Amino acid sequence: MTAMQPFGDWMKTVQLTVENGLASYLPAVTEVPARLHDAMRYAALGGGKRVRPLLAFAAGQLFDADSEALTRAAAAVELIHAYSLVHDDMPCMDDDALRRGKPTVHVEYDEATALLVGDALQAQAFLVLAEGEGDAARKLDMIRLLARAAGSAGMCGGQAIDLASVGLTLSLAELEQMHRLKTGALLRASVLLGALSGKALAESEISALDAYADAIGLAFQVVDDVLDTTADSATLGKTAGKDAADNKPTYVSILGLEQSRNLTEKLRNDAHRALVPFGDKARRLRELADLIVQRKA
Ligand code: IPE
Ligand code: IPE
Ligand code: MG
Ligand code: MG
Ligand code: MG
Repeated sequence: MTAMQPFGDWMKTVQLTVENGLASYLPAVTEVPARLHDAMRYAALGGGKRVRPLLAFAAGQLFDADSEALTRAAAAVELIHAYSLVHDDMPCMDDDALRRGKPTVHVEYDEATALLVGDALQAQAFLVLAEGEGDAARKLDMIRLLARAAGSAGMCGGQAIDLASVGLTLSLAELEQMHRLKTGALLRASVLLGALSGKALAESEISALDAYADAIGLAFQVVDDVLDTTADSATLGKTAGKDAADNKPTYVSILGLEQSRNLTEKLRNDAHRALVPFGDKARRLRELADLIVQRKA
């Protein structure tokens, strides 16, 4: 994983490392209760772009974090993300049948199993962090950071606003807040957990990484809204056109496609600017900002 590797190769290496890490951290299907463990592995393994792990690894590289610590941090945030997707797809939320190109967990198994898969993946995320090597105080910081990002002040809070907003026209400020919470919070946590795997951070480092994470966190969900209207289900691996069908306020419904795209370009520039203090070492984070804005799925 040298700095000179082409971006695509680096991505594949990280994705494989995280896949193997997740496979080893998750309970084996041979352990009781087998069906729950099978469903947890179904939800977390073998799919997804792994953007959050990539962000964690890229941020960790800035501070020379070791691969074992980074794999734990990356897997922990991906486990929270995988849980959030399982619950997001349930009939009581977005009621989706397709995720990562496969039937959703409640369709493949059943609703109660999907609920428990989410619960158990979330618990597993904190276990993965708690069981890592290294400084106990720093681990506690990481656990606190992930808990904040996942909870009612972060992803869960954003999901609550999302569900309460069906059929409403939100102001741009309200929409931005919803997106920053439901998606931005976990992306920010990915960046900071990766960096913290390397060392305790100085205030100036946290604020530069925060500015970067703010920009890409919002950009990621704006692009998700755009792709929901412009891409097809086969490309996305999830049902396209679902936001309009469900009457969800999105950047596309409120700003339109062109202005949404302009916004993502502006956010990409903001992200690049935030990285200037880190110089060339931030190359992967720059490349990921580009990927997040230019992705087609
Ligand atoms: C989808 O996230 C849900 C959002 C927060 C927009 P991703 O687009 O990262 O989904 P995967 O992990 O690649 O499946
Ligand atoms: C979900 O947002 C964000 C989560 C916290 C899971 P969406 O509902 O837009 O995600 P998709 O489009 O179903 O992946
Ligand atoms: Mg949703
Ligand atoms: Mg959804
Ligand atoms: Mg979406």
